[in-house]
Amino acid sequence: PKQHTLAVIKPDAMEEHRDTILEEIRGRGFTVTQLKETVLSREMAEEFYREHREKPFFDQLVDFMSRGPSLMLVLTKENAVEQWRAMMGPADPEEAKETSPNTLRARFAADILHNSVHGSSNEQHAEEKIRFVFGDISTDAAALGS
Ligand code: CMP
Repeated sequence: PKQHTLAVIKPDAMEEHRDTILEEIRGRGFTVTQLKETVLSREMAEEFYREHREKPFFDQLVDFMSRGPSLMLVLTKENAVEQWRAMMGPADPEEAKETSPNTLRARFAADILHNSVHGSSNEQHAEEKIRFVFGDISTDAAALGS
């Protein structure tokens, strides 16, 4: 069955890699169901990443994510959550370069913080984050054509 996931092109990748990433997303058969460029406020970044608020890197993460525009996307495809995670590769680009050199993070990310893209880790997170970013749209069965 088709699935939605929330994908983000992060501030470090927007200037140089945004168009390439979008092209490759479409080339892999994802439908871009929603798309919005936005500069996250610190408050929004804190809320978006609230699961990580106890982590030692939380403040850096919030600084980074609010420093410039991000592209927020809803991607729709069979197994979209897992498929998008596979396309991104592991969070740490050093690991990505070793295990999956064709992934977006292996190719574009500078380090584990500035890692170019984000994707929901499961369907429940996907629904939550889509609602947080885009409001009450597109997560219903009708939008999935099922
Ligand atoms: P993301 O997949 O968006 O989810 C949480 C983000 O926190 C992650 O990508 C990175 O940007 C960042 N992150 C994860 N682990 C670390 C770490 N060990 N040090 C710094 N930043 C991290």
